[in-house]
Amino acid sequence: MRTVDLIRRKRDGKELAPEEIEFLVEGYLSGDIPDYQMSAFLMAVYFEGMSDPEVMRLTECMLRSGDTVDLSQIPGVKVDKHSTGGVGDKTSLIVAPLAASAGVVVPMMSGRALGHTGGTLDKLESIPGFRTELTADEFQTQLSEVGLCFISQTDRLAPADRKFYGLRDVTSTVESIPLIASSIMSKKLAEGVDALVLDVKVGSGAFMKKQVDARRLAQMMQGIGRRMDKKVQALITDMNQPLGYAVGNALEVMEASQTLQNAGPGDLTRLSIELAARMIFLGKQAASLDEARRMAEEKLVDGSGYRKFKQAVTAQGGNAQALDKFELLPNATGMREVTSPRGGYVSSIDAEDIGAASNMIGAGREKKEDAIDPAVGIILEVKTGEKVDAGSVLCRLYYTKEDHVEEAAEMVEDAFRISAQKPDERELILEVVG
Ligand code: URA
Repeated sequence: MRTVDLIRRKRDGKELAPEEIEFLVEGYLSGDIPDYQMSAFLMAVYFEGMSDPEVMRLTECMLRSGDTVDLSQIPGVKVDKHSTGGVGDKTSLIVAPLAASAGVVVPMMSGRALGHTGGTLDKLESIPGFRTELTADEFQTQLSEVGLCFISQTDRLAPADRKFYGLRDVTSTVESIPLIASSIMSKKLAEGVDALVLDVKVGSGAFMKKQVDARRLAQMMQGIGRRMDKKVQALITDMNQPLGYAVGNALEVMEASQTLQNAGPGDLTRLSIELAARMIFLGKQAASLDEARRMAEEKLVDGSGYRKFKQAVTAQGGNAQALDKFELLPNATGMREVTSPRGGYVSSIDAEDIGAASNMIGAGREKKEDAIDPAVGIILEVKTGEKVDAGSVLCRLYYTKEDHVEEAAEMVEDAFRISAQKPDERELILEVVG
């Protein structure tokens, strides 16, 4: 088998055999296939796509490239939730404790900020003392005792995905449906879950800009799950404006904490209940989705979800008091308001630009090794559909360093579209797949 022949066949839209996919994954991981050949192959996949059997084989090869976690010793159904990435998307911090407080075992494997989107691990690490790098023993002990653990992907879990992902990031091949599906599913399957709830984001702040692509991605991930005997349900949700009001690490922890105390934004609360309900249902803690929804609401209102979150934070070395006393979280030192140039209705808020502006003042990374500034970010004052006067505040930028603040403020101002007419209301949950 020669790599160059496989690249050419994919380039020409042909289907590769399972052993050919295996040859590519193994060859790349061992270093026999160089980056330049794999880059060409990935670009060919970006343009030509992959058949279902090809995606399945790729997922299996990446899954088997490292360790798989065996959680069978821990009683209960293990359910994780994964979002394909958005702006202001702090739902993991809310849905995981809600589902865990309803009896689901939640091994929540999370990622770091990527491009303009935020990462759960970075948000959690803004809580003083919080540790996301746990040993396998610590992880299993916490899951047994608390029923909830937030962890990062270790080097030994799906290492092929890690290597592929690094290359995709720098070759502009991230936004490929089969590559995203196999990347996410290989990690989730390696983690030893029984079921998975997916939040597939679509819109300006998501990797998928079109609903048809988001649907295809959801169906592909569900198909992979089905073949591996795992239950997968996916919601396709709107990411044309940030979720909630807060964007930025500590700011999002504050908003998640308020939401768990039933004092959060309507859109974030609604989506969190919906996702938690599906975890509760797939986790076999409710006989119907309606009952699961009622349970999720109850756990929010009676504070059990909030208490579960604090318990998990404490177990992972974090100062849970910071969830009540926000002055214990990293706080910004400067604030810059962005005001509306005219009166009218907010007709759209470009989520990608808000995410990029937040990163520009330090909330995200430019290069993998960069440190993030946990204190900084953006708080929206208004959302799409709301009426504003000329000069009223659209949002506030919170920063610790002056560099790039003006540039970010301009970007944010451009992200808001103000029109004379009230825009049609947009659905938050667009579709359910599975
Ligand atoms: N998240 C992942 O884990 N992988 C992708 O390819 C895209 C988003």
